[in-house]
Amino acid sequence: MSRTIEAIIKHTGATSEKKSTSATSQTMKAIRIHNYGGPEVLQYEDAPRPQPQPGDVLVRVHAAGVNPIDWKVREGHMKDFWPHKFPLILGWDLSGVVEEIGAGVSRFKKGDEVYSVPDVSRDGAYAEHIVVRESELALKPKSLHHIRAAAVPLAALTAWQSLFDTAQLQPGQRVLIHAGSGGVGHFAVQLAKWKGAYLFATASTKNQDLLRELGVDEPIDYTQQRFEDVARNIDIVLDTIGGETQERSWSVLKKGGVLVSLVQPPSEEKAKELGVRAAIIGAQPNGAQLTEIAKIIEAGKLAPVIDRILPLSEVRRAHELSQSGHTHGKIALRVSNGDGTLERKQS
Ligand SMILES: NC(=O)c1ccc[n+]([C@@H]2O[C@H](COP(=O)([O-])OP(=O)(O)OC[C@H]3O[C@@H](n4cnc5c(N)ncnc54)[C@H](OP(=O)(O)O)[C@@H]3O)[C@@H](O)[C@H]2O)c1
Repeated sequence: MSRTIEAIIKHTGATSEKKSTSATSQTMKAIRIHNYGGPEVLQYEDAPRPQPQPGDVLVRVHAAGVNPIDWKVREGHMKDFWPHKFPLILGWDLSGVVEEIGAGVSRFKKGDEVYSVPDVSRDGAYAEHIVVRESELALKPKSLHHIRAAAVPLAALTAWQSLFDTAQLQPGQRVLIHAGSGGVGHFAVQLAKWKGAYLFATASTKNQDLLRELGVDEPIDYTQQRFEDVARNIDIVLDTIGGETQERSWSVLKKGGVLVSLVQPPSEEKAKELGVRAAIIGAQPNGAQLTEIAKIIEAGKLAPVIDRILPLSEVRRAHELSQSGHTHGKIALRVSNGDGTLERKQS
């Protein structure tokens, strides 16, 4: 057993059970859960290496992004949406290299560097390999190393689909983004700016400089000010928080405006009464949109902010940090060292 594997097993609390010595090319290392629960249910172990079916691409994962959905699934909050089967590999954000293509795949070939949001109803990317549908994949931005590329797909796609597909953002519109310093928020701010919006965004005191650097015209410190005292006549509110924040957001919208929530269905009656539109979105995998996002990154108009990079062996810590609700930008997990060996060094 290599020192790497020993260290990871020790960290995740998995028993040593001579698993690594029995590993063959038909198995891979993965972080799996066998039941819902706290971070302790995340187990480093051998798992069957997935086989690409027609239309699928097998990707060697170099890095995985961490998103709140990971711990929400882990805790069982999403079981009515996605009836996952155990054992389950979490993590639906990745960057890696194509290793094998299934029948009928034409847009990718072995060796392509790709990034993706895979289907959340299938196994995720906390693993050496993942099978992804061709339609969910795009070439990763060349200017980003895998670890930074893995921080992009899910949060950037969510921002894209909220602002452009659902809210139909137009240049010059006034946009309020709640949690502009968060995973989705920091991409939403940059994408809205790229489209020519006038931007308001909320975050706490420590993240006000970040909001300015990202291009927010009027940063709002939600610990010091009520956002509705600053943001008025808003065309689009992006609600990443829900609850009282969503409730208070109605008052800032102008007639004809739209409230898009990521977390809680807004009241249709309230929207009707105020003459505004309301929507909740569930982001969908979309390789074509990831290709567009890569172009904007290559043009220097969009970049991921990384809160921290952790080795896969520290996945439990990554979940605790995400669950705190106060990281800025993204947490990324380094899965491989880029030479086919598993990550072992702490960043
Ligand atoms: N529906 C979908 O398809 C979809 C897709 C992606 C995400 N989501 C959901 O959307 C939510 C946000 O996701 P995320 O990845 O952006 O989360 P995140 O990265 O964990 O968000 C953290 C950020 O939220 C800010 N924040 C916390 N409380 C706040 C408040 N009251 N007002 C303003 N900002 C506040 C924090 O800033 P401070 O530290 O400065 O407070 C922090 O920077 C999550 O619930 C996630 O599950 C849904």
